[in-house]
Amino acid sequence: MSATQARDIEGARRVSYSLSFSNSPTMSFHSPPAGSLGANLSGRALKQLTPFNSQNIKILLLENVNQTGRDILTAQGYQVEALKTSLPEAELIEKIRDIHVIGIRSKTKLSQNVLREAKNLLVIGCFCIGTNQVDLDYAAKQGIAVFNSPFANSRSVAELVIAEIIALARQLCDRSMEIHRGFWNKVSQNCWEIRGKTLGIVGYGHIGSQLSVLAEAMGMKVIYYDIVSLMAMGIARQVPTLDALLEEADFVTLHVPDLPETRNMISHAQFSKMKTGSYLINASRGTVVDIPALIEAMSSGKIAGAALDVYPNEPAANGEYFNNNLNQWGEQLRALNNLILTPHIGGSTEEAQRAIGVEVGEALVRYINEGTTLGSVNLPEASLRSLTSDEPDHARVIYIHHNVPGVLRKVNAILGNHNVDKQISDSKGETAYLMADISDVKVEDLKEISEQLDALSSRILTRILY
Ligand SMILES: NC(=O)c1ccc[n+]([C@@H]2O[C@H](COP(=O)([O-])OP(=O)(O)OC[C@H]3O[C@@H](n4cnc5c(N)ncnc54)[C@H](O)[C@@H]3O)[C@@H](O)[C@H]2O)c1
Repeated sequence: MSATQARDIEGARRVSYSLSFSNSPTMSFHSPPAGSLGANLSGRALKQLTPFNSQNIKILLLENVNQTGRDILTAQGYQVEALKTSLPEAELIEKIRDIHVIGIRSKTKLSQNVLREAKNLLVIGCFCIGTNQVDLDYAAKQGIAVFNSPFANSRSVAELVIAEIIALARQLCDRSMEIHRGFWNKVSQNCWEIRGKTLGIVGYGHIGSQLSVLAEAMGMKVIYYDIVSLMAMGIARQVPTLDALLEEADFVTLHVPDLPETRNMISHAQFSKMKTGSYLINASRGTVVDIPALIEAMSSGKIAGAALDVYPNEPAANGEYFNNNLNQWGEQLRALNNLILTPHIGGSTEEAQRAIGVEVGEALVRYINEGTTLGSVNLPEASLRSLTSDEPDHARVIYIHHNVPGVLRKVNAILGNHNVDKQISDSKGETAYLMADISDVKVEDLKEISEQLDALSSRILTRILY
């Protein structure tokens, strides 16, 4: 059953939606966008909502956003301009004045200076993991939602770690470097199969749990330590303390976030607990391992090998930057044997980029068409069940406002003459987000509601979808 055509009071935009699923494990946030399947479970045709009182949605995509994301947005009929690079600040300011949506990756800085000029901007899509290139607080205060894709690359990281476990156990990288230099060195001493060895996973989240499954499939025993109690995948076993894990594991792999409690989580005391001849892998955050302590543990033979994908300081661009100027121990580290050093590539695969394109593209469509903020990093997360086509005189009112007392009462007084079928309101810091579906409403009424809401002193942004 196809979704009903969008009604657009300016007659400009017609939307149709082709659904594709993200492969991210965070199902709650990736369930099919309500209203996008064309029908709900009861078989009723869902109504595609469309913004009231807005021109065609204009989107600027920078930094060569993946084709999957571009396709999702153009399929909606939005006006999409895609550029391969970032833009210098002056050009960005010029362009951002006119657009409703911007898609960026990590190089475009959306500072207060830039966002101040973004008078029409509704939403920012960060087609990447991090969001520190955006002034999130300022964006929230302007009612601009920000979405990203934090978990689309979990599988890529887990696969890299599997490769590293075998490579370390077989001293693969050293043998390869030797033969690159013309040196034949056929040895079996201290080279091992991974079958039957114990993998200790610290942090059993998106990556840690994927890795658990892969490692067991390769015949490893898996134990894990996490600050919360988590159900094991397969026959993995949670251990009560980090020390218990370090004492038992042949391979220790770190998958925790960068938090004050995880800084230097693995230092001298932890290396001393680890088995002699064991291995350490860090593809989480560079601050988690005390690198001088690792250098000492490897030099003494306590640790037989390590793989690092992340560092306390990482260069901003590709080039010959990994030296002592960046991290004072750089040279000592590079001199160690059986140490795999990679430039933060854990999540860098074509699949991850595609999944990011789908995840962020879909989040943008949901936000533009339905006002759903699930997954937003700077606005409260709010969602309402979709309207259906047998609810013809319904509209969705979205009111982003300052989080001050008395707003709900004033908003409901304005909506009062219409039946409020469903409503949700939530706040995050100084910003609050309200959605209400109202019935018995005519197009003529919408303008009046919009103007009355705009006149409230608490208003940041009003949107009406119908
Ligand atoms: N190398 C890369 O390219 C790359 C790519 C993606 C993610 N990462 C990093 O990998 C790490 C894990 O990512 P994720 O997506 O699995 O995160 P996640 O949030 O899904 O899982 C993190 C887990 O760590 C646990 N945890 C938090 N503090 C802990 C502590 N003190 N001790 C033990 N467990 C603790 C949490 O309870 C959670 O289960 C993050 O640091 C992330 O930034 C790196």
